[in-house]
Parts: sequence; C-alpha cells; structure tokens
Amino acid sequence: MLKIGIILGTRPEIIKFYSIIHELVSRKVNFFIIHTNQHYYANMDRMFFQELSLPNPKYNLGINSDYYHGKMVGKMLIKIEQILIKEKPTWVIVQGDTNSALAGALATSKLKIKLGHVEAGLRSYDMEMPEEINRILIDRISNALFCPTENQRKILINEGMEENKIFITGNTIVDVLYQNIQKALHDKNKLYDQPYMLLTLHRPSNVDNQKIFRQLVKSLENVADRFNQYIIFPTHPRSAKQMKKFKISVDTNKIKIISPLGYLSMINLEKRASLIITDSGGLQEEACILGVPCLTIRNNTERPETLEIGSNLLVGNKPKTILSGATRMLNNQTNWQHPYGDGNVGKRIVDYLVPDIPNSRLRY
Ligand code: UD1
Ligand code: UDP
Repeated sequence: MLKIGIILGTRPEIIKFYSIIHELVSRKVNFFIIHTNQHYYANMDRMFFQELSLPNPKYNLGINSDYYHGKMVGKMLIKIEQILIKEKPTWVIVQGDTNSALAGALATSKLKIKLGHVEAGLRSYDMEMPEEINRILIDRISNALFCPTENQRKILINEGMEENKIFITGNTIVDVLYQNIQKALHDKNKLYDQPYMLLTLHRPSNVDNQKIFRQLVKSLENVADRFNQYIIFPTHPRSAKQMKKFKISVDTNKIKIISPLGYLSMINLEKRASLIITDSGGLQEEACILGVPCLTIRNNTERPETLEIGSNLLVGNKPKTILSGATRMLNNQTNWQHPYGDGNVGKRIVDYLVPDIPNSRLRY
C-alpha cells in the first residue's frame, strides 16, 4: 500500500508543508511525519502545528540544532534511517534546503526509497551558504523535483537532471498564505497604529559576525530615522543569541525587538508593513505575493524572479546601499504579479505522489 513519509525540522518547513499535509489528510493517504526538532522552541515549532491545525508528528527525534553541522546531520541520519527501515514508505518528501531536509534526503536515497524534493532547483550560486550545499545535494539524489517556477526547471535541466523528473508546481507558500491571510488580517494590533517597516535577520553571514551585525543595526536605525517609521524586528533565536553574545543593543525608539511570531500575526504584520527588510528566503516570497516591497540584506538570492518583477532589491549589508535601496523601494510601484502559483500547489504535488488520482494539476 502506498505510504508517504514527510521529513521536516524547522519553522519554514512546517509552514511550507501545510498544504501537502492537509491534502494527504483529506485524501486519507497513509502518511507519517518525522520531525527532527532542529527547531525546538515552542515559538519556532509547536506554535505552527497548533495554529495551522497540523497533525502531530509520529516521530519527534529531539535532535536540536548544533554548532557543528556534520554532527547535527549525522545524528539525524542515524535516527531517520532506522525509522524508514521500519516504515518502508513508497515516497519520502523533503522541502527546501535545511540540514533536516539534507539528512532526510540522504537517509531516503541510501535506502533506495523514492525521494521527492519540494522547492527544487533554487540556486544562489554562493557556496558559503550551508543551504546552497544542501539544496544541490538534495536535488541531485531526488526522484521527483517540484520546482516553483520555470526558472528552477531550466537550472536543473542545465545541471543535467532528467526532464521527466521535473515538475513546475508553484511554491507551497502560496497555499498557506492564501488560506490564512483573511483570518490573519482580522486581528487589529496596536503595533499598526503608525507606519512601520518589518525586519527579519538570521543568516550567519549577517548575524554571526559582530562587526557586520553591529553595523547593520546602525544602518537600520538610520533608515528608521530618515523615514520617520519604526522597524519591528521579530528576532530569530540565532540573532537573539548573537545580540546577547556581542552585547549589541538597539535604539528602542527606532527598532522594536519582539519574540518570533506565529504565522497569522506574522503575515498580518507583513501585509501592513511599508517595507519588508530581510535575509529570509520565505519573506522574499511572501513580500512578493502580498504586494509589499522587499529589501534583501544579501548580495545574492536564490529567488531571482522577485528581482526580475521588481518586488525585491538586493542591497548587501553596507549602510549606503541599504539607505538608497530603502528610498527606492518605498517609492516603488507595487502592482507586480507574483510568479509562485495559484494556491493549488500542494494538491498538484499530491496528485503526482498518489497515482490513482489523475495528474490533472501537475502543470498550471
Ligand atoms: C535554519 C536553516 C536555514 C533556515 C532557518 C529558518 C540550516 C543549515 N539552516 O537556520 O536554512 O533559513 O533554519 O529559520 O538548516 N535555535 C534556538 N531555538 C530554536 C531554533 C534555533 O535556540 O528553536 C538556535 C540554535 O540553538 C542555534 C541557532 O538558533 O544556536 C541556529 O539554529 P540552526 O537550526 O542551526 O540554524 P538557523 O539559523 O535556525
Ligand atoms: N515567520 C513567522 N514568524 C516569525 C518570522 C517568520 O511565522 O517571527 C514565517 C514567515 O512568515 C515565513 C517563514 O517563517 O513563512 C520564514 O522562515 P525563516 O525566515 O525562518 O526561514 P527561511 O525562509 O529563510 O528559510
């Protein structure tokens, strides 16, 4: 009997698996979830299962993130392999480019179980990013590659991947966003009384280097000052830990530090922001889908379609480019059309995995 294994471990994977998991439940497909617990604070993990009504994982591995990625992936690999040997799934699905996704993909492939990769074909061409290594390896060993747009399909073809493994599906972020945005916007929070910008930062290249992180905070305070808007900063645990370690403080009249938010509060805050400033992959996509201009504090992006349509601008981490980028994006037109699909992305992927249902949604 067909059985599907879902492997996840971090906040964005839980969010981006939302529609696939709900589709499996509603079609009564036999499936199980393995959660590595790479992310483990309630507000990075449990909160999303509860808020998005996701079933509890059958397996919680309790492997928290580790400074050494080899150790983290190794511990995950050992436990996932044992579970897959017992469960014997037909397909295992991983999402994105985290260490949890890599461990899941490796364990699956070594056992010769079919592997599906959701959000395949993204490339930043920056091998300094742990995610770039992970996604290249995952794509290479996958049996089905679910690409958000034509861009990623072309990349995979150029890398020599067989065409019949590649499907353009859209990005599942559209499903979870479309299905929750109306509910999210009901909430009126006093944070919205005045215009504000929204900030998230968690890339090691921005927050693991004291000098860069400190300079970024100063640049962003300057942006808040220039535009007379405060910046709301739901702080990722990595960044919170680094701020403490480096003793970085912010001017609280300019930057409001808050704990990581639930999904509904987050997309509400995103939609009402004048500008999203981020180094997150998911936020670059959400800003584009929600019609909010985005400034990406990086030198490259694996989401170049957002640059092409003008929803996003790469500004690196220098004060001058951040300020000029903010000026440009705050005056930008926001009438672009996002390229990430139609809200049926999860359905389309499940159509492929569950063969007795016609593959009617495989392309859109
Ligand atoms: C990971 C992913 C990254 C993704 C991000 C999403 C890898 C290599 N990186 O980065 O691709 O964009 O998740 O948010 O897989 N921490 C806590 N509590 C938590 C979660 C993390 O304290 O619930 C701390 C960890 O102990 C560690 C730091 O945050 O000190 C970083 O966690 P880690 O999972 O290694 O990487 P992320 O930066 O979260
Ligand atoms: N997110 C959230 N609460 C927060 C910050 C982010 O719900 O406080 C959501 C955000 O809306 C997006 C996802 O988390 O869907 C992005 O995750 P993150 O930035 O951690 O990882 P990345 O996308 O960079 O891998």
